[in-house]
Amino acid sequence: MIPATEENPAAAPRVPDLSDPLLHQRGEAGPVLARLRREEPVCQVTRADGSTFWAVLSYELITQVLADAATFSSTGGMRLDADPVATAAATGKMMVITDPPLHGMIRRVVSSAFTPRMVLRLEETMRTISVEVIEAALGQDSIDFTEVAARLPLSVICDMLGVPRADWDFMLSRTMTAFGVNGDDGPEQQQRVATAHTDIFLYYDELMRLRRKEPQEDIISALVHGRIDGRPLTEEEIILNCNGLISGGNETTRHATIGGLLALIEHPEQWRRLQEEPEVLPTAVQEILRFTTPAMHVLRTATRETELAGRRIKAGDMVALWLASGNRDETVFADPDRFDIGRREVNRNLTFAYGSHFCIGSALATTELNTFFDVLRQRVARPELTGEVRRMRSNLIGGIEHLPVRLVPR
Ligand code: HEM
Repeated sequence: MIPATEENPAAAPRVPDLSDPLLHQRGEAGPVLARLRREEPVCQVTRADGSTFWAVLSYELITQVLADAATFSSTGGMRLDADPVATAAATGKMMVITDPPLHGMIRRVVSSAFTPRMVLRLEETMRTISVEVIEAALGQDSIDFTEVAARLPLSVICDMLGVPRADWDFMLSRTMTAFGVNGDDGPEQQQRVATAHTDIFLYYDELMRLRRKEPQEDIISALVHGRIDGRPLTEEEIILNCNGLISGGNETTRHATIGGLLALIEHPEQWRRLQEEPEVLPTAVQEILRFTTPAMHVLRTATRETELAGRRIKAGDMVALWLASGNRDETVFADPDRFDIGRREVNRNLTFAYGSHFCIGSALATTELNTFFDVLRQRVARPELTGEVRRMRSNLIGGIEHLPVRLVPR
């Protein structure tokens, strides 16, 4: 953003382009969101190409929009810059970009897989993998923590879908290529991504065939044996919803872990408190989720003309709900920029959104973070930065691309 000066007062736009990934990479979005949240909590953003969208920034207005799926639809895509062709092809089939009542039918099929036995199995996986990755990193001079944090969410997703353990390494590498957030989108990278998607597709195809004959306690079995509107799901619906689980649960959980560690490094007194008072862990995890807000926004499209905080929204307008702003709303969270692992009102955070699309993996992600930070707290005396931190260049994922650290053993 060009700073305004006395000679050139118009240089800084009143509403900067909140969708500019550089604004987020430079760490400049926080103060901009705070100012707009106070002055104009529903504002129209004009992008570099002249297109516009509405940004909703206060906690109250964000929850109001998310509670009204009839006026604010998910079928136009759940984020800014989603590929419109892919969105149109998956609408009405993939849960996150489907409206009620079909949305609820798909959601019930996926939820039915989360049996107590499966949750128990996933919890065991979480502890085993957390111990493995933290032990491997302990005492090394310097490691990139973004890599350490990658394996846990991916392993949990593989286990949840029903991928046998022998195939995890294959699926982890394919999934990272296909769904990883990567700044490089040149032709070679695009080809690698396309090949990885094909490999995953062929793998699911085989897994679906096996689970049709012999169901297990996993998501693929729930999807191949589930019914929506009285009929079985099509193969396309099954694959799209598996992809939805992978893309919804992978980078988000990973970036909460990475951002959480950085917050604890930057606030050593909070790290010490976590070590000394294990009972604070659940609140600490909620504060990590609030403070990092890995999915910075979600998107809706207005189905009819309506008014929001005095602004006239037309049918077809895009409305971006900035969860990262709602989570720093001073009317809900006292001194919101303070990282405080004992914060009392923290459970009200909007990290998993609100309303009918409230994250289906929220309990899983929370347990993953609890497990990971519990193992970290027990095995690590002190996490230390060993180099420069690089933030992600994205308007969706609020995250860190490179976090060099040393985990000093306890
Ligand atoms: C939905 C964030 C973990 C799967 C959502 C939404 C948000 C979100 C903001 C709402 C989308 C909308 O309203 O349009 C996060 C964050 C996570 C996380 C920050 C980790 C810290 C997970 C995990 C899974 C998952 C582990 C997989 C098990 C999904 C799915 C939806 C969803 C399938 C769509 C639900 C629906 O449409 O009803 N997530 N998520 N997420 N999430 Fe998560």
